[in-house]
Amino acid sequence: RTARFALDPAFTIGEADPRLFGSFVEHLGRCVYTGVFEPDHPSADAEGLRTDVLELVRELGVTVVRYPGGNFVSGYDWEDSVGPAEERPRRLDLAWRSTESNRFGLSEFIGFVRKIGPRAEPMMALNLGTRGVAEALALQEYANHPSGTARSEQRIAHGDKDPFGIGLWCLGNEMDGPWQTGHKTAGEYGRLAAETARAMRQIDPGLELVACGSSGQGMATFAEWEATVLAETYDLVDHISLHAYYEETDGDRDSFLASAVDMESFIENVVATCDHVGARLKSTKRINLSFDEWNVWYQSRPNPHPVEDWQEAPRLLEDVYTVTDAVVFGSLLIALLRHADRVAVACLAQLVNVIAPIMTEPGGPAWRQTTFHPFAQASAHGRGQVLDVRVDSPTYTTRKYGEADLLHATAVRAEDGSVTVFAVNRSRTEALPLEAALGRTGLTAVLEHSALADADPDAVNSLHDPDRVTPHPVEGTVLRDGTLTAVLEPLSWNMIRLV
Ligand code: AHR
Repeated sequence: RTARFALDPAFTIGEADPRLFGSFVEHLGRCVYTGVFEPDHPSADAEGLRTDVLELVRELGVTVVRYPGGNFVSGYDWEDSVGPAEERPRRLDLAWRSTESNRFGLSEFIGFVRKIGPRAEPMMALNLGTRGVAEALALQEYANHPSGTARSEQRIAHGDKDPFGIGLWCLGNEMDGPWQTGHKTAGEYGRLAAETARAMRQIDPGLELVACGSSGQGMATFAEWEATVLAETYDLVDHISLHAYYEETDGDRDSFLASAVDMESFIENVVATCDHVGARLKSTKRINLSFDEWNVWYQSRPNPHPVEDWQEAPRLLEDVYTVTDAVVFGSLLIALLRHADRVAVACLAQLVNVIAPIMTEPGGPAWRQTTFHPFAQASAHGRGQVLDVRVDSPTYTTRKYGEADLLHATAVRAEDGSVTVFAVNRSRTEALPLEAALGRTGLTAVLEHSALADADPDAVNSLHDPDRVTPHPVEGTVLRDGTLTAVLEPLSWNMIRLV
């Protein structure tokens, strides 16, 4: 059966915030050390940043970088990471049972973001696990105040004359999780987040602040957590965070392919909870969503690399992504775009080596994982008005989500009127014919149809075969008399550009 939808420029979801294409650098495994930062690498610049990685980050189209954690941040003393590198203390990182040298710190991070390009923005997470209001204010003053105070002069003495201008802040990380250092109840966290936000706004009312939501829709405290935290913070924060990771379990690939069903319901449930609190408070303000950790992550698989406690930059979470993973990943991107009216920020977790689209070898090359490609395409062409795409699709049966559509799709209309359709065919065996009625869009031609699909759904890119999986052009996609017809290969991520 054919999958169908209609596009009409008058029916939109909302403007896709460029910050939907954010990512995340945590002091975890080799994300920082031998990932973005490796002073001895042949490609390293004067600051020790790997320029081969920087080039790939630019190609990926990353707009926001969240830092420095993650679980790491909840035991982090930011003061350890500034000043002369050789004087910085080595510390235990309780979250990942590693040793943190602090060789890479706040100044190096800001330098990295600036080198990505003028439109990339830092997103700084605060430690609200072991620390609180005073330390958040000290960091804000150090980072953002121009000059003339103890902290700002300290930054200048450390070599950073210009303030860092960090506008986007996370009030802690996953504070609902019992694994989090300094884990709190919703009431305890809500009060701390509110007081931190209030104090930070006394310095700068214009900051954008993210309160911690749940670390997953499956948490026992989900929704109640959001409601309690927002009851304390509603007027003081701009966004609430969501985190979600998906993996194939028990060989149930069909459910895994429909992971975005869960992601969309998570988003919609958080929106409902935010609006419920807003209604209770009789507020006209709307809280938006910061989906600041999302990805495919094989959490239940044992680490294939030998790792000792308190090692520096051990090989942790170095998942190798297949074609199937990239299709699910693309579907998660589609889910985010389909909710662009409320998801204002999203961060792919993470950027390099750790559940990442970019992999590196210490002293060796950097390469693109399969998941690199859907992200790069979506970031390059998913900017503009997201159109309301309601699919009429054949379905298939999944154990976790019941009947799920085989077609998952969204479409984004750029300022020049061109439209890009992103679509996933979830069928593992059947090609999916697609027909889209484009009547009132004024579109007349197919510029490009590219697909990521492979005869081997488990194919991966690796050090020895870094470009085994890349998107390929698809022939035969036509736009005639206002109707787009295409065939989506089995298990495929597709980008169709129309003008
Ligand atoms: O991204 C890996 C970890 O996942 C982060 O440190 C934490 O916030 C989440 O549980």
